[in-house]
Amino acid sequence: MKDKILAALSQADDFLSGQELSEMLGVSRTAVWKAIGKLKEEGYEIEAVTNKGYRLVAVPDADLLNAYEIERRLTTKWVGHTLYYEKKTGSTNDDVMQLSNEGAEEGTLVVSSQQTKGKGRRGRSWSSPAGGNVYMSLLLRPKIAPDLAPMSTLIMALSVYDALKSYAKGREDVVFGIKWPNDLVVSVKGQPYRKFVGILTEMRMEDTQIKDVTIGIGLNLNKGPETEGLEDKATTLSVALGQEINRAEITAMCWNCFEPNYEEFMQAKSIKPLKDRYNAALVNRGRKVLVLDPKGEYTGVAQGIEDTGELTVIRDDNGQQERIGTGEISVRGVMGYV
Ligand code: BTN
Repeated sequence: MKDKILAALSQADDFLSGQELSEMLGVSRTAVWKAIGKLKEEGYEIEAVTNKGYRLVAVPDADLLNAYEIERRLTTKWVGHTLYYEKKTGSTNDDVMQLSNEGAEEGTLVVSSQQTKGKGRRGRSWSSPAGGNVYMSLLLRPKIAPDLAPMSTLIMALSVYDALKSYAKGREDVVFGIKWPNDLVVSVKGQPYRKFVGILTEMRMEDTQIKDVTIGIGLNLNKGPETEGLEDKATTLSVALGQEINRAEITAMCWNCFEPNYEEFMQAKSIKPLKDRYNAALVNRGRKVLVLDPKGEYTGVAQGIEDTGELTVIRDDNGQQERIGTGEISVRGVMGYV
């Protein structure tokens, strides 16, 4: 309701009367008046003039995150067309899975400003404080073989990378990259790469078929993680760019980039058409890595991903080529974070 009123006011050239708004939205004038009051509380400057109605004068600040601010920036055909914004939640991945159980459509998106039970990869938690970050998850129902599903994580990483590049266009001093398989890292003025985005994909099965895939992304934009020991490994986009980040813009850009990339993958049923772009963004490429294989650790030089999404590494000890699947084995940089 608030979002619809905002949309109507921002599209109007002149004042819109309470009567016009109530007819447009099919609600009472009291409901319109109440929603306008709430919008004012959120910081929207709305002028109210007797016999004329309401006019949107200014939006509160560049960093405002709500459904309307995201929706008006989305150019997608199906991603995020059902969108839930929650100021605070447990975990947006859990929310999406719950919505999926209730029959939510593919493309349903949940966005939040704070999580109390944020989940990270490998059973870790994801620090999700309030105050300037984005935590969001998307529902997918791909009709593909289950072993292809982990690719959606790589596609998401590539899409966030695309979005960040275009957000920071012109900033030659800031270099973004993907740390295999799906961490987004940034380096400023040649400093070591630091992580500020994590992606967690969860797949559920129904017999032998995929029931759903939930892709969750945590973007540390304006506030760092509240986890000890990460000080020299983690950063925020705001620190990297030296400016406050517009969260609604980044959020929409991620999905605007994701949809065409994902459709390309679904059409080919392979990551092949996106592989070269992914490898070009991969910071591990050509670098020494430590592979934490449960069968025995080894070092080697990462080459890039294959059509299967696996990372190839040439071992230092025997010169053999190894292929590493996402999820099985952890890869660490030998020098610095990557
Ligand atoms: C990682 O460990 O790097 C992955 C972190 C993924 C965090 C995001 S925040 C939104 C979504 N909801 C969760 O509970 N986790 C993911």
